[in-house]
Amino acid sequence: MQTFIFSYFLSLVVCATAAPSTSGVSIHNTRGSGKIQWDPCGDLGVNGTTKLECGNITVPLDYTEPDSGETLDLQILRAPAPNQPSKGSVFFNFGGPGASGIPQMSLMGSVLSVFVGGSYDIVNVVPRGTGSTLPFSCYADEQERIKSNLRAPVATNASDTSLGEVWAEVKNIADACAHTQNETGAFIGTAFTARDIMNVVDALEEDGKLRWWGQSYGTLLGSTLIAMFPDKVDKAVLDGVMNAHEYYHINVEQVSDADSAFSGFCSQCVENKDNCPIAGNRTAEELEDGIYRAMEALKSEPIPVSVDGQGYIVDYSTIKGTIYNALYFPATWPRLAQKLDIMFSGNITGILNDLVAPLPATPDAEASKGIKCSDNQDPLKALEDALPGVEARAKLSKIGGDVADFSALQCARWGMQAKEQYTGDFKVKTENPVLLVGTQNDPITPLTSAKKMSEGFEGSVVLEQEGYGHTITSQGSSCTIKTIMAYFNDGILPEPNTICEVDAVPFSGDDGLAVVLEGLTNAAGR
Ligand SMILES: *[C@@H]1O[C@H](CO)[C@@H](O)[C@H](O)[C@H]1NC(C)=O
Ligand SMILES: *[C@@H]1O[C@H](CO)[C@@H](O)[C@H](O)[C@H]1NC(C)=O
Ligand SMILES: *[C@@H]1O[C@H](CO)[C@@H](O)[C@H](O)[C@H]1NC(C)=O
Ligand SMILES: *[C@@H]1O[C@H](CO)[C@@H](O)[C@H](O)[C@H]1NC(C)=O
Ligand SMILES: *[C@@H]1O[C@H](CO)[C@@H](O)[C@H](O)[C@H]1NC(C)=O
Ligand SMILES: *[C@@H]1O[C@H](CO)[C@@H](O)[C@H](O)[C@H]1NC(C)=O
Repeated sequence: MQTFIFSYFLSLVVCATAAPSTSGVSIHNTRGSGKIQWDPCGDLGVNGTTKLECGNITVPLDYTEPDSGETLDLQILRAPAPNQPSKGSVFFNFGGPGASGIPQMSLMGSVLSVFVGGSYDIVNVVPRGTGSTLPFSCYADEQERIKSNLRAPVATNASDTSLGEVWAEVKNIADACAHTQNETGAFIGTAFTARDIMNVVDALEEDGKLRWWGQSYGTLLGSTLIAMFPDKVDKAVLDGVMNAHEYYHINVEQVSDADSAFSGFCSQCVENKDNCPIAGNRTAEELEDGIYRAMEALKSEPIPVSVDGQGYIVDYSTIKGTIYNALYFPATWPRLAQKLDIMFSGNITGILNDLVAPLPATPDAEASKGIKCSDNQDPLKALEDALPGVEARAKLSKIGGDVADFSALQCARWGMQAKEQYTGDFKVKTENPVLLVGTQNDPITPLTSAKKMSEGFEGSVVLEQEGYGHTITSQGSSCTIKTIMAYFNDGILPEPNTICEVDAVPFSGDDGLAVVLEGLTNAAGR
């Protein structure tokens, strides 16, 4: 069986923000336009295993001006439940923000329908700003994108001047986006997307209630849905929980478990030397220290690499960003170890692929900014005002603090705001209490954030999953999946302080989800 890796994830959602509340906007919840017609999807540009159905509904373009007559066609995907007729739908959101969910549904839709118990269809509403739903892009085409002189994200502690350079760079990007998106950019944001989703709930004509499983940014969208429409939520699983209080203002807490995740990489490397030659004779502490020293050395002496006559430079920011991103997915750790070898033995084999596919800004990355930065309620005027956030992140995480700054500063200098922003307190009671889940060492959505959000959701429970990675699908755990099944099927919550083990084997390069799936399908006698 193939290994399933979620291809999309929260790309350093660090929005510094805060802002005058834009309340006073009168809210009309326009109803969806009748039933949805589902047809087999055409070519979605990806060959997954799921036979998806496609549908759409028409919604107001601008919920604050429902009488304007301007509308938007929402793209919707559905993975039918294996056991038909289904009991209804569970809405899934894959995060980002900026993930359309299209490749993810194609690759994972049928697996997810098993994970929720086999009797619910999985529905993905392609969020505004992504896919063909009002795509957010800052450049007219690829040429414009290249011409704009974008540079790869720089970690702010790379040198004495890098913080200032990042601060300048993000302004150029913000200006380009504001220019290109001046007509429709303000209609993109979490509050409008929440209204879109509720319109789909109505159009489905099931029980009129939302069942939700959101990962990463999908928890932020989920928390906002729950807070805006508490009476319309049946059940909600928030997986890899973001602190929604911070998201709309300034993101600091999110890096708090990044260092423990990195220490986990080092100790698992040492315990699995066969798959991790960089361990050598070192202890875990010596390896961690050695990596930090080698990165520090790159600040004054980066490594030039030539691939087919094309030159690249591997510097502190390259390596730090590479490490931070790999902490999301423990299945990629053997590969990370190969990449880090360039610092120890000069072996570039492991890092080659990344070098020859450098990262220009992609439309997906622009959509991510377009959503999270337009949600930001606290734009900042001067670099000086951003320093407290930079210092707080550095203090919380040595490995991730200065990597996360880029995204935070981007949102601080953003030139647009969404027409509607949620400004409430996330204190709500739902029919069934919310289930929050997360891993013990998640580099971007720490358990602390799950616990804080749980305080506002009456009767909610936080389930911890042992191990590492971002969201509970980064390492398969049948214990966690069975808990989620029991919740959707029977409304059963786990005991408080429940901890689930993972089935993934450390440093195997496998996320263990296939094993979990096999166990479930065998148990179901299929
Ligand atoms: C999907 O499969 C078809 C037929 O095998 C192939 O022509 C097409 O290029 C594939 N598309 C992608 C995105 O891999
Ligand atoms: C919306 O769905 C209808 C009915 O299936 C279909 O005819 C139409 O092409 C769809 N529109 C878009 C924009 O996908
Ligand atoms: C958007 O920018 C274009 C080009 O500068 C301008 O013609 C148009 O009036 C602007 N629209 C809005 C709503 O500001
Ligand atoms: C490991 O330690 C032994 C003995 O101290 C030494 O001979 C060997 O070269 C070391 N190997 C590595 C990879 O450092
Ligand atoms: C360089 O790294 C690759 C990939 O990790 C490995 O297969 C190869 O043996 C390494 N070469 C040397 C000389 O260590
Ligand atoms: C930033 O860089 C300086 C100088 O290289 C170093 O001493 C310091 O520990 C770094 N700070 C963090 C938070 O990594």
